[in-house]
This record gives sequence, structure tokens and C-alpha cells, in this order.
Amino acid sequence: MTTLVLLFIINLLHSQVDSHAHYGGIVPELAARIHMHKIVPLIETALKKSRCSIKSISAIAYTAGPGLIGSLLIGASITHALSFSWNVPIVPVNHMEGHLLSPMLEEKKLNFPFIALLVSGGHTQLIQAFEIGAYKLLGESVDDSVGDAFDKTAKLLGLRYPGGPCLSKLAQYGTPGRFRFPRPMIHSSDLNFSFSGLKTYTSNVINKQEKDFQTRADIAYEFESAVVDSLVIKCKRALKKTGLHRIVVAGGVSANNVLRKKIKKMAINCKSEVFYVRPEFCTDNAAMIAYVGMLRFKQRKYSKLNIFVSPNWLLSQLTTIK
Ligand code: KG4
Ligand code: ZN
Repeated sequence: MTTLVLLFIINLLHSQVDSHAHYGGIVPELAARIHMHKIVPLIETALKKSRCSIKSISAIAYTAGPGLIGSLLIGASITHALSFSWNVPIVPVNHMEGHLLSPMLEEKKLNFPFIALLVSGGHTQLIQAFEIGAYKLLGESVDDSVGDAFDKTAKLLGLRYPGGPCLSKLAQYGTPGRFRFPRPMIHSSDLNFSFSGLKTYTSNVINKQEKDFQTRADIAYEFESAVVDSLVIKCKRALKKTGLHRIVVAGGVSANNVLRKKIKKMAINCKSEVFYVRPEFCTDNAAMIAYVGMLRFKQRKYSKLNIFVSPNWLLSQLTTIK
């Protein structure tokens, strides 16, 4: 969705939101074209702002997947060209490992093992993290991701893309109790999620109701509550099942304030610690990719000049850094 570069302490972002908002979602071809136009000027700005010389750069990290192939290929091609011309190693980084370890960018120290709830536009997963690169999938969405459910429901409520933050803002004006939506999958004993039924239920309610501001806010409130309750219940179950007492919440949707508050409350009740990153590092950013790249570079986990991208790269396919 965005073009990103991190060099030393510079974290820059070119947001593509305005270009895609008109279409109500990401247009893959358009995303790749915008990447191509923006990536070199962004690298130049980062170099200028950081005032660091090219000679002082020791490695380049890039996102190799999961994600849209067109955008991945542009990032990979540019960074490999730079790696060749600057004569520095290149480190492929898994986008979801970036989110998973993003709380390590903060001062509060995060130790392994822990549970992670990864909630983004493309993923809704519960992960058990044993050490860097050793991850077990405990559960995931059997249909739509939670980010997608937020975005599509927001669209039905007449909100602009990306819908998650807009829906959440509207929900602040909602009246608790006016609507009651089902909490998906809470009675199944596994750790999977499902959001397509809730999405359809919400859509039916929207179609039957007046479209005044208060009604839309009340629906947004109840939709957000149902999604968050479903996530929190499964997180609680994951802590209980694994016997762990640390939980990370990461990915774009972890910027959601209601989710942050309710997970925190649950964690306190379960005598567990919760780890988030500040909101600007919840959504896609270069800092998390550079951080994981640095960890892997330190252990010499970098590749030669063969361009590697993997649109469906799974966390369980990663290797440890020992
Ligand atoms: O991680 P991310 O930036 O991109 C992907 O890797 O997909 O996540 C983007 C998703 C979008 O669906 C967006 O609507 C959602 O995160 N999001 C939110 C909030 N901020 C971003 N959803 C709910 N509440 C928010 N405050
Ligand atoms: Zn992401």
C-alpha cells in the first residue's frame, strides 16, 4: 500500500491512501506503479535527511513478502540494484515478522516466548513465538481478515478508505445497547476466527435502517465491539492453552483503541503482560522491516544477489537466527 524507506533514524512513508480511496480499496497495478514513481525520490530524501554517507551503510533490508507481487518486485529490484552498486549485503524480511517483532522498537523489553495476535488488512492470526524465526500458527481467520471486515463495513457505512480508523472514529459517537450483533466463533474451542458472517449480518442491518448519523454511529459501535470481543476471547484462550503470560498485539488493526483497551483489561485479569507498538508503527512501516533486517544481518542471515520475493511467505517457513 505504501512506499517506505528507513535509513538510520529516518523513517519515511509515502502514503498511497488518497490514490486508492476513490476505488474503495487497493488496486494492485496502481500500487505497483506508484511504488515505482516514489521509491527513488524517497531513498534520496532519506539519505539527505539522515546526513549519512553511503559508505556508512552496512546492509539493506527489504520486504520480500507476503504482499502484492508487483509492489514486492519493485522494492526487491531497487534494493538489489543498490546492494550491488553500494557493495553491501541485502536481507529479505518477512512482512509479518516485521509486525510480530515491532513492539521491540519500544523501550519496554519483550522476551520470548509469547503469544501474538497479528491483525492487518491481509491477516488475522494467533501465533506462538518461541524465538526469532521459530513461530507456530495457533489459529487464523477461516475467511476474511479483520482489517478487510473493517474496511468493507466502513464502505457500507459510507466511510472512505481505509475504513478501519474512520469506522472506529464514528463508533465513538455510538450508543451502547441499541444493536446487538453476534460474536463470531466464540463457542468453538479452537483458536480460529471468522468475520464474513458478521460482515453480512451488519450489511443486512445497514440496509434495513435509516442512514442518519446516529444510526450509522450505533451500528459502527456494535460492529467494532463484536469484532473486538471475538478477538479478545480467542487471545484469552490462547494464553490459557499455552500457559504463557505475554501477549503481543500487532499489525494495522492493533492501532484500534477499543482493541488495545480490552486486550489490556483481559491481560491484567489473566496476570499477563501486553505489548503494543505506538500507533504509527502499527500500520505498515519501514522501521519494523529495518529492525528485523538488522537482527538477521547481525547473524549473517542475508542472501546473495538472487532476487527473492514470496507473495504468500508464511511465518512458519522462517528459520531461526542461531
Ligand atoms: O498492517 P497494515 O497497515 O497493512 C497490511 O499489512 O494489510 O493494516 C492495514 C489495515 C487496514 O485494513 C486498516 O483499515 C486497518 O489496518 N486499521 C484499523 C485501524 N487502523 C488501521 N482498523 C481498525 N481500527 C483502526 N484504528
Ligand atoms: Zn502490514
